Amino acid sequence: MRASAVIVAAGSGLRLGMGQPKAFVTLGGQPMLFYSLRSAAAARSVVEIVVALPEGMAPAARSLAELAGVKIPLKLVPGGPRRQDSVRHALALVSAESELVAIHDAARPLASAALFDACIATAERSGAAIAAIPSADTLKRVVDGQLVATVERAELFQAQTPQAFRRELILRAHRAAYADNWTATDDAQLCERLGATVQVVPGARDNFKITTAEDLKMAEALLGALAG
Ligand code: CTP
Ligand code: MG
Repeated sequence: MRASAVIVAAGSGLRLGMGQPKAFVTLGGQPMLFYSLRSAAAARSVVEIVVALPEGMAPAARSLAELAGVKIPLKLVPGGPRRQDSVRHALALVSAESELVAIHDAARPLASAALFDACIATAERSGAAIAAIPSADTLKRVVDGQLVATVERAELFQAQTPQAFRRELILRAHRAAYADNWTATDDAQLCERLGATVQVVPGARDNFKITTAEDLKMAEALLGALAG
């Protein structure tokens, strides 16, 4: 089983508000991208990494990859205006020898190598698999500040990355979305649109997406605890 990991790191991190691209904001003494590179490289089924980057960050990414112990081929590509464009640019560089592709947000630095492998293994069997966790809170539908319904929680999950796919499926899904000028918030949605079945792999609470300054603090604390 051969998989390529796509890491999207080309966002500007406006909500984090650190005045620099989020993937390069320091977390536990390293730029955030370091952690995804390390996990992807440590995943047994990953044979290549493709990273979508902000303009001018390729040299920084190369040295980070070295630091993270990336010994497999590393390809770098400029991102696009939307996350979906960044994924599409990266997919264009994925080796035709990779049967599978695992797509991951650099903004989720605490994803484990095992989670990459789990998504990839499930996608090999089913075509597509995403990490997700059950929703812990009771969810309410609210309109204009007023509760209109309680949503049945049992079936609700929060999607994470990695999201892994057969290469042929995810290429087709991105091509179709591009042709139809259709935007989705994650890659699984592009495949759902084609009628593909997407399996869910148990994600991790630690694998949250760093969006705001509070998230960054929480990740700092978790990394500190892990380091003992
Ligand atoms: N991303 C990307 N290209 C874009 C937008 C986002 O590669 N044009 C990546 C980000 O780098 C991040 C992931 O997609 O790893 C999830 O996006 P998000 O959390 O929204 O990050 P940003 O877009 O950087 O943050 P913000 O929306 O606050 O500006
Ligand atoms: Mg964004």
